[in-house]
Amino acid sequence: MNVDAIMALSIEDMAVFCKKKGFVYPCSEIYGGISGFFDYGPVGVEVKNNIKQEWWKTFVTARDDMAGIDGAIISNPKVWKASGHADCFTDILVECQKCGNKVRADHMVEDALGQQTDGLSAEDLWKLIEENDLKCPKCQGPFSKPTQFNLMFKTVVGPAESESSVSYLRPETAQLIFTDFKAVVDNNRMKLPFGIAQIGKAFRNEISPRDFLFRSREFEQMEIEFFTHPKKTDECPFFSEIQDLNLNIWTSEAQEAKADHEKMHLKQLVSSKKANSWQAYWLGMMLRWFMDLGIRQENLRLREHLKDELAHYAGACFDIEYNFPFGWKEIHGNADRQQFDLSQHAKFSKKDMAVFVEETREKVVPAVATEPSQGVDRAFLAFMFDAYDDDSNRGNVVLKLHPKLAPFKAAVFPLVNKLDKEAREIHESLKQELPCFFDRSGSVGRRYARADEIGIPYCITYDFDSKKDKKVTVRNILDTKQARIEISGLKDTIRGLVNGDIAFEDLKPEKA
Ligand code: GAP
Repeated sequence: MNVDAIMALSIEDMAVFCKKKGFVYPCSEIYGGISGFFDYGPVGVEVKNNIKQEWWKTFVTARDDMAGIDGAIISNPKVWKASGHADCFTDILVECQKCGNKVRADHMVEDALGQQTDGLSAEDLWKLIEENDLKCPKCQGPFSKPTQFNLMFKTVVGPAESESSVSYLRPETAQLIFTDFKAVVDNNRMKLPFGIAQIGKAFRNEISPRDFLFRSREFEQMEIEFFTHPKKTDECPFFSEIQDLNLNIWTSEAQEAKADHEKMHLKQLVSSKKANSWQAYWLGMMLRWFMDLGIRQENLRLREHLKDELAHYAGACFDIEYNFPFGWKEIHGNADRQQFDLSQHAKFSKKDMAVFVEETREKVVPAVATEPSQGVDRAFLAFMFDAYDDDSNRGNVVLKLHPKLAPFKAAVFPLVNKLDKEAREIHESLKQELPCFFDRSGSVGRRYARADEIGIPYCITYDFDSKKDKKVTVRNILDTKQARIEISGLKDTIRGLVNGDIAFEDLKPEKA
């Protein structure tokens, strides 16, 4: 990966690249688009699906202490009263008195003064606006005093529009996990501690969507609510698996002292009582997941929330941040939600949310010791930035995605069109098992470049020797080294390379 290339690549450049190569398009662009909405194109949808599948496989199906659900986007509006979203899910808005431009106050102050605004109240922001005489970036007009703007998307359910027919598109997937909690516990006979996971769409009427997919109005989340006995949030039996991970951690003290993040072991978060051991464990698992799928450790850090910044439901809260060209930004949130949600739903629904604990023969309302909440689209962006390499030697972009995330695992080329039939047979056989691309147009060099740009890890060329030796040339995207591989074992070889069971070096490649 070329660090200079990353520095040079802005978020706008990434949006252009994604559109040009079929990863992501502005939604309904033929009508001028709509701010904060995007469509994933043919290769983008494959990468996005791979991200979701890898997450689900690692954290749901490969574990004994996890169950999954797929909740509805629209639910009984009482859900959002109980959760607090209907009344409190707001951002602070200021409006230009001259041109009517409405902007998110913290973002405007951050842009104008270049200072962090996490945790600042409406009063704090107004003070900064007044003191620094900040004006509308569009027309230089003065701003009115800040107001709270609710981010919930309202909708009408059924044919008759009345107060009782109004509901909301969910702003997070989490609440459906709480409303289905008792049903899942009963169906799966879950015993504490355990988690419930969900992947799905969420909607927020962001005041000013920006930075491409980073802040959109429709996005996807992969969330886990991890339930423990309220007195056992610090009894994670797997803690030793991650305690020695040495990561960039930006503590609240360092932020207040305007100091940089520091390398720290995850166990220090627990020994200093900043996080319970379940929360530290899940932060470690999520960071490891990103690193296993190719993100470089130095581009990731943990940021502890400041006291003033904590959400209404949260004890301790941490973000995983990625070092984007537009700064370190949150890609993952993790809150210790305690008993807030289940208690709220018990109160509003008048249903018992307590579970029976056999060892102590008592009924308890479980605590959410940790809520790993991952945005799919922000994960997609981080993977794309980390993979992007504008390779001046090759003269084209090389997207070094982890093979598990790549939209196609291999591309098959006939060296010349005369060999089309044999190459197609290989493609037909491979694509039954692995997403595989066929390309016969242009020179092989041009075809390599096309494959590099969309992150295809292995290019397979059928040439004149293939007829005789029953082998093909496989080229590795990372260093362009090539190896001759038996056609009969090709499927196993590519599968092994993608899964990491075989290293390309094991194939005894020759220099590019
Ligand atoms: N249930 C907790 C929750 O929703 P959050 O920090 O508001 O917490 C979690 O959101 C994650 O969802 C974020 O870290 C981010 O990855 C993603 N996300 C939130 N708002 C987003 C937006 N407007 N556009 C894209 N992703 C967003």
